[in-house]
Amino acid sequence: MDTSFHAVAISKNVYWVGAIDWNMRNFHGYATQRGSTYNAYLILGKEPILIDTVKEQFFEEMMQRIESVIDPQKIEYIVSNHAEMDHSGSLVKAIAVVKPKKVYASTMGIKALNKQLGNDLKLDSVKNGESLTLGNVNLKFIETRMLHWPDSMFTYYEEDGVLFSQDGFGMHLASMQRFSDEIDKTVLMHEVRKYYANIILPYSSVVQGLLNNLPKLDLKIRVIAPDHGPVWRKEEEVKWILDLYSSLVKQEKVKKAIIIYDTMWGSTDKMARAISDGLYSVGYDVKLMALDANNRSDIVLEVMDAEILLVGSPTINNGVFPSLADVLSYLKGLKPIGLRGQAFGSFGWSGEAVSIIKQSLEEMKVELVGESLRFQYVPTEEELTQCYAFGVKVGESI
Ligand code: FEO
Repeated sequence: MDTSFHAVAISKNVYWVGAIDWNMRNFHGYATQRGSTYNAYLILGKEPILIDTVKEQFFEEMMQRIESVIDPQKIEYIVSNHAEMDHSGSLVKAIAVVKPKKVYASTMGIKALNKQLGNDLKLDSVKNGESLTLGNVNLKFIETRMLHWPDSMFTYYEEDGVLFSQDGFGMHLASMQRFSDEIDKTVLMHEVRKYYANIILPYSSVVQGLLNNLPKLDLKIRVIAPDHGPVWRKEEEVKWILDLYSSLVKQEKVKKAIIIYDTMWGSTDKMARAISDGLYSVGYDVKLMALDANNRSDIVLEVMDAEILLVGSPTINNGVFPSLADVLSYLKGLKPIGLRGQAFGSFGWSGEAVSIIKQSLEEMKVELVGESLRFQYVPTEEELTQCYAFGVKVGESI
């Protein structure tokens, strides 16, 4: 059939039939500078199966890719691995066109899909570890609860050794290339780590459990097909992403300090710069991340493997800068571990910001080092020397 969009074979019997979102720059607060893809997959067995769908506005693109290889009405089953709208947004429309015999999801998936898309959806639940033979296709379902929603599950297609891993092992990266081995590894490294930091990080113990459990399932995984970004299709690529996840779950640290701050008339900025020199003098790689120049999602990426987190703000209306409140709330939710740090800032008269930041850092379980630092109006040369010493002290505290 003539279509504008075409399917891409990712294994003997599986086609990628997803959509490329080149221009998406904000994924619920996560800055996606490289866009994303929503990956749906078609297993072309005797009874064709669609694995996941795409964001609602990309429904036509998905359908055209399906039509490039098969009449969509020949699809007999749909599997929903994850109910979040970027993968289920087209499900209702797909069901209306395809009229599948069955739509499968986890028990929690059915609850989430019904709440989001309507209770009249006819869905069948599959259990953790359950296997199904659909035509000549053998599928095994592996629940991955809280990776990263309660409904999340993986589906393994035995004959081709494809693990459909929904958000797991994925990244926000729009590209024509469908396979990781066609893309620069530094780009993959950055985007996988950023995705992990912003979506998966608080569920690291769940990922650790999954990584421990996968070998026991005795799956012959030849391809990992996530719902975002490229497919991992070669043995060394599958090993690369599994090894990277094994390292990310441990949240290993490097000798790095992150200073996040905002500034009103430049005083907190002066403090941050002097502190950064002090930290650098005792061997730390330092990144200054002013909040008018850095998105919260890039900050959490840097914080994930940092040893030190310093947070600075001037006081405004008896509180912290709104940008700081945003980032502190975001960081707290993502639960980075193993940090030590402190608060600093400038003020005019009341000066509450520093104590508010300290409280947030304590709530984040950041180990506070020494005393916080705050100066009134514009810091003097002597006070900036104290900022430098503050950086040295925090850096030397182990
Ligand atoms: Fe890509 Fe959790 O949705």
